[in-house]
Amino acid sequence: MSKKMVEVVDLYYKYPDGTPALNGVNISIAEGESVAIVGHNGAGKSTLLKQLNGILRGHGKIEIAGLPLNKENLRTIRSYVGIVFQDPDDQLFCPTVYDDIAFGLINMDMEKAEIDCRVKETLKKVGLHDFGQRSAHHLSFGQKKRVALATILSMVPKVMVLDEPTSNLDPRSEKTFLELVNSLSGTKIIVSHDLPMLFQLCDRFVVMGNGKVIEDTSREKFMLNKKLIREHGLDYEFKCAYCEHYVAAAC
Ligand SMILES: Nc1ncnc2c1ncn2[C@@H]1O[C@H](COP(=O)(O)OP(=O)(O)O)[C@@H](O)[C@H]1O
Ligand SMILES: [Mg+2]
Repeated sequence: MSKKMVEVVDLYYKYPDGTPALNGVNISIAEGESVAIVGHNGAGKSTLLKQLNGILRGHGKIEIAGLPLNKENLRTIRSYVGIVFQDPDDQLFCPTVYDDIAFGLINMDMEKAEIDCRVKETLKKVGLHDFGQRSAHHLSFGQKKRVALATILSMVPKVMVLDEPTSNLDPRSEKTFLELVNSLSGTKIIVSHDLPMLFQLCDRFVVMGNGKVIEDTSREKFMLNKKLIREHGLDYEFKCAYCEHYVAAAC
C-alpha cells in the first residue's frame, strides 16, 4: 500500500467577503499519483489548491506526507507542496530569473553554493539554462511558465500542483511544457479544463462542483462518462466536431 501524500478531510472555507468556496471537501492522494481536478468555473478548484500549502486556511484537516498543516509545520509543508499558479506574473516578482528561483531556496536557509547549483540545474531542466540574468517580465508567456515551474522544482517538492498549466499557451509551448511535466516524477495535482492534456498526464479524475468533490474516479471511467463530462462543462467534442467538419469540407 503506498504512502498517503495528501489528506483533506471535511474542509470548509469562506472568503473574507462571505463567499463560500469549499463546502466539505474530502480527498486522499497517495505518493506518486497524478490526479486531475476538473469542474465548472467557480467550483472551488483554485481555492482548494491554495489550502494545500496554507496560502488560505479553512476549517478541516489537511495533512501532507503525514504532517498536519499547522503553524508549526507550515514552513516544512511549503517546501513539500509546490504550486504553479495559472498566471506566472503572480509567481515571478524578482529582478532576475535567477533571483526568482533562488527566492524559495533562500527561505529554506540553504547555503549560497548549494543555491547556485540548484538554480543552474533547474534552469537546465526547464530548457532555459542561459536565462538566469534575464528579467522574467521580458520573457514570452511560455518561457515565463517554465520559469514559474522552475521556482517550485528547485525546491524538489514532494507534491507538484499546477493550476490551469496550459491556459494561454500556444500549441508549441504547450507541447514543451507538457513534455517537461510528464518527465517529472512525484505526486502531481493538475487543475484544468483541457481534457486531452489531462488524459495524457493523469490516471485519476476528481470532479468538483459547488465546493465539494462530486466524483472521484479513474481516467478510463471518467472518459466514458459523457454525462458527467457534459454536466461539468468539460465537453470538448463540439470543438473536435467543428474541426472535423472543416477538414472534411476542405478535402
Ligand atoms: N478572492 C476572492 N474573494 C471572494 N470570493 C472568491 C475569491 N476567489 C474566488 N472566490 C469565489 O470562490 C468560489 C470558488 O472560486 P475558485 O476556487 O476560484 O473556483 P475555480 O478555480 O474552480 O474556478 C467562487 O464562487 C469564486 O467566485
Ligand atoms: Mg481556478
